[in-house]
Amino acid sequence: MSTVEFETGPAEPAEAQAVAEAVTALLRELRGDPSHTIPGLGAAVDEAIAGKDGSGVLVARDGERRVVGVLGYTTQTALRLATPYRHVQELWVAPELRSRGVAALLLEALDARCAADGVRRVEVCLPAEQFPSYPRTLAFYERSGFRVIGPRVIKDLS
Ligand SMILES: CC(C)(COP(=O)(O)OP(=O)(O)OC[C@H]1O[C@@H](n2cnc3c(N)ncnc32)[C@H](O)[C@@H]1OP(=O)(O)O)[C@@H](O)C(=O)NCCC(=O)NCCS
Repeated sequence: MSTVEFETGPAEPAEAQAVAEAVTALLRELRGDPSHTIPGLGAAVDEAIAGKDGSGVLVARDGERRVVGVLGYTTQTALRLATPYRHVQELWVAPELRSRGVAALLLEALDARCAADGVRRVEVCLPAEQFPSYPRTLAFYERSGFRVIGPRVIKDLS
């Protein structure tokens, strides 16, 4: 697995459009809906890049500084932990560059940021089990040191 041609770092404001496109591509893939759009995404990306309320965006760039991977995260405190933890909200790698270690690099970069910020836990929610690549996604996270703690349930309020 060769990763030398990629570098990671916090997304820069000039990369906001590329980040928004990556998040849209991720949602389209997960939902199986090639026309899915996310109202308000541009503003949300700008705030995350600015680090608002503990959020952040890490990107992986290729040798020509094109954004080829995106990791969005938030930071919150749970009473049960009594300390801040991070949640990986989005993780996406350009399809043509998958299985070359880009996502692993992004998770390593997040670990380094967590260490610098005194954050000692990272959580992530997997796609639904019906998602065709679910077994590979699960294998990827387990290889990256995550353990399964149980399904997530959500409710949308209108
Ligand atoms: C999951 C994903 C971020 C991994 O990125 P990556 O850069 O290919 O990951 P790495 O190269 O570091 O690790 C490779 C492993 O990722 C997983 N992976 C690779 N392609 C994948 C795909 N299309 N779908 C799901 N998992 C994949 C596999 O476990 C792979 O190991 P393998 O090559 O031995 O099968 C990337 O495939 C992706 O963007 N998938 C679609 C979106 C998604 O599922 N995101 C996670 C939501 S929680």
